[in-house]
Amino acid sequence: MLNIVTVEPVIAIAGRITIPPDKSIAHRAAILAALSEGENQIVGFPDAADPQSTLAVLRALGVAMEEREDSLYVQGVGRRGFRKPAGPLDCGNSGTTMRLMAGVLAGQSFSSTLIGDASLSKRPMERIAEPLRQMGAAIKLEDGHAPIHFHGGSLSGMTYTLPTASAQVKSCILLAGLMADGLTTVIEPSPSRDHTERMLGLTTLDFGGERHIAIDPAMDLPPRIWIVPRDFSAAAFFLVAASIVPNATLLMMQVGLNPSRAALLDVLRAMGARIEVTDERTRAYEPIGDIRVNAPEHGLHAVEVVGDLIPNLIDEIPILAVAAACADGVSIIRDAAELRVKETDRLAATAQFLQAMGTQVEVLDDGLVIEGGRVLQGATVDSHGDHRIAMAAAVAALTASGPTTIHNADCVEVSFPTFWEELDGMAGGGVVSSPA
Ligand code: S3P
Repeated sequence: MLNIVTVEPVIAIAGRITIPPDKSIAHRAAILAALSEGENQIVGFPDAADPQSTLAVLRALGVAMEEREDSLYVQGVGRRGFRKPAGPLDCGNSGTTMRLMAGVLAGQSFSSTLIGDASLSKRPMERIAEPLRQMGAAIKLEDGHAPIHFHGGSLSGMTYTLPTASAQVKSCILLAGLMADGLTTVIEPSPSRDHTERMLGLTTLDFGGERHIAIDPAMDLPPRIWIVPRDFSAAAFFLVAASIVPNATLLMMQVGLNPSRAALLDVLRAMGARIEVTDERTRAYEPIGDIRVNAPEHGLHAVEVVGDLIPNLIDEIPILAVAAACADGVSIIRDAAELRVKETDRLAATAQFLQAMGTQVEVLDDGLVIEGGRVLQGATVDSHGDHRIAMAAAVAALTASGPTTIHNADCVEVSFPTFWEELDGMAGGGVVSSPA
């Protein structure tokens, strides 16, 4: 595996980028398939490490699955059909695996433990343990973090107001609600990604901006054919690449366009990006479309991104910061304190690589102030093992005045295993290299 990568500046990029399948949707498809009774087909399940962690956990719980051609076939065992695992369940780097599976395991009769890698073991888990305990779960954390120990038991439905917009916490509680006695309602103050609700067919009631999502444990979970769209969060790197390299035209097909995920499209357009979406359609509960992006005629200009928009582009902020660094004027990103508890502290990590490349960045408690418009310099930077930081730095490197070396680059495996090949290919080769 490549771990140190050098990216050369380019003057033009063109072509069709193959975007990997959506990891958020893949986790949910695998878990809902396992909870159903009978054979499910998941078309286009990703090879990326995070969704593969969910499969490994489900296998360890006795769920049989098999890959055939372009599909993964999952034999659902039903809500109560899981087997007590032989040892701790390893979620790797995947917060979604850990938080969603916590909802499934909290209401099982057997005890189990979820563990993760060094980064995941530092991420806050009290945010799921606290509501699950309110439902009656017996859970022990270690100082607010994984390992998470479940001691088995039964759950009661409840109404819970999320303190912060988090799709992982929301989904954890909704999944626990499937195993509970009585109705569970989650109230979210501002909308986070809604894949779980769509895939379960749940109705969201909007009371003046406060969203109520209820789940009835008596609901049917039939086996299904699930189709995984291409991941907007992966496409985001190439949307920005084609908006900052002067001669650029890129095409990406069948990309997920769920509005609770795709706010970056509007933000980039407001900055002057030329992005065209064609053939919008719905595939298995999710809107998708083909995206063409061309270099903007007059470059990008600064933007301010705050408030309720943040959860709808939460994973895209490192690459949005790259667009801001290349845009004229001062951009401001606020209300994004959640970035401090992602795979790394993404506010600090983003500022660090941009500063190394010569951009003035001020780090706020909950955001970034970025002075754009200067030519970036080639530099040596570190991803700190965070896939989105590695990819954002690589895109920034395309417009730098010299080569940029990225340490800890192999973490792209987590969400986009073919990222380096795609980056190199769109520039005609010779752009990405690594020491022998
Ligand atoms: C995700 C939700 C988001 C996001 C993560 C995936 C999901 O996390 O950052 O990459 O699939 O539900 P939070 O819910 O913690 O904001």
